[in-house]
Amino acid sequence: MSRTSPDLPAAFIEQLRIVSGQHQQRKILTDPADCWAYSYDNSRGRSLPAAVALPESTAEVAAIMAACAEHRIAVCPRGRGTGTTGGAIPPQGGLALSLERMNRILSVDPANRVAIVEAGVINQDLQNHLQPHGFFWPPDPTSAAFSTIGGNLACNAAGPRALKYGTPRDNTLGLTAVTPQGKIIRTGSYTTKSVVGLDLTRLLIGSEGTLAIITEATLLLTPIAPAETTLRASYASMKEAAAAVSRIMAQACQPRAIEFMDSGAIRALGELEQNPLPEQTRALLLIDVDGAVNGLQESVDAIKAAAQSAGLLEWLRAGSAKEAAILWQSRKALSPLLRKLAPGKINEDIVVPVSRMAELLDALERLAGQHQLLIVNYGHAGNGNIHVNLLYDPADERQTAAANKCLAEVFELTLSLGGSLSGEHGIGLAKRNFVDLEIDTETLAVMRGIKSQMDPLNILNPGKMYPDQSGD
Ligand code: LAC
Ligand code: ZN
Repeated sequence: MSRTSPDLPAAFIEQLRIVSGQHQQRKILTDPADCWAYSYDNSRGRSLPAAVALPESTAEVAAIMAACAEHRIAVCPRGRGTGTTGGAIPPQGGLALSLERMNRILSVDPANRVAIVEAGVINQDLQNHLQPHGFFWPPDPTSAAFSTIGGNLACNAAGPRALKYGTPRDNTLGLTAVTPQGKIIRTGSYTTKSVVGLDLTRLLIGSEGTLAIITEATLLLTPIAPAETTLRASYASMKEAAAAVSRIMAQACQPRAIEFMDSGAIRALGELEQNPLPEQTRALLLIDVDGAVNGLQESVDAIKAAAQSAGLLEWLRAGSAKEAAILWQSRKALSPLLRKLAPGKINEDIVVPVSRMAELLDALERLAGQHQLLIVNYGHAGNGNIHVNLLYDPADERQTAAANKCLAEVFELTLSLGGSLSGEHGIGLAKRNFVDLEIDTETLAVMRGIKSQMDPLNILNPGKMYPDQSGD
């Protein structure tokens, strides 16, 4: 069992200071006022770490981790704390280890389509750096302006472009990481083909900092397409919009993104939406298409033909990059905006097969009625990845109980449709006790076995990802 006391032994703190360089006192924070900023993430949960380490190299992370193993101190690694599931919150206190100072882009290699970055690089900073080279790294979570590559990798956080270009798992060649024993390991290779050894890269990506601390990543880059455009399709009903997504996905032309918003999301946008929608709009799709200059119109025509239905009220094509950015601005504003509708928000990221989305949305409408809750849905429809937002007032007992009951029913519904509980936000603290609804006992035992093999002391991000067994 890892240490749960809020107080860390003086000898441990002294050891941290030594391995971090005696003169650099600000690399180890112990004043609660300094530690406060590391006590929360975007889940709005809170737990104060007893100390914070701000290492500047993989070697320092390794030395810190070795000290934690020696003293059996729980460590909670974190990027910029934009996660929504409490994965970056240290429920046991202990040490928060922030990768924010490891923010160097170490190399960009266009010939091999590879960039090597430290874990604390902000996603958007990397994209800006790659742009003059004509490349990008596909994962684009809505938090890209603030979130780190390390955090994106820890959660396998993707975003709209995953539809065409895949998730972090599909866009990473290798990792440097520090084990719970303080050993440095290197996974994967610099090449796009390699079958030597087990695929630890894919194992660590999405493991939410529970198996090893990712400190560096060898990322696979994608060339920026010469042409792109954004389309907006307005529908008279959710069913029509969902059916259109199925038809678009069933034809050959691959859009870069298909985002969905229901009528609640559209209402929430209100005056933010700069291009007025037809009055009867109850759902809309935002579709990105990219490719060769010559083929673009053909792609748009093919997608438009698939999107066509009696319920299609309007088909809008952005006339310029600026207009496209305006259409996307509304979409990107949604998550924070919903906090204005109600003081409490449970923001899920369930996934269902695209063909079952109409059933999902229908059933969600029923659940909202049954529980007398406001449910707003939007998200990455091309992947069947819908952000179901249960909005409620935590001060209201009825609403709180209804939201919690409804959440369990949303998960049951998702699984009954052949889906998955999380497409990109991960499990963290918030969803750990639902995991065994999706993963059977035997499979879960294999996963727990890997965790205890790699982290026998259970000191690396304990209490996350797996159902609570022992109050850990
Ligand atoms: C989004 C976040 C919530 O897609 O994942 O806006
Ligand atoms: Zn999302």
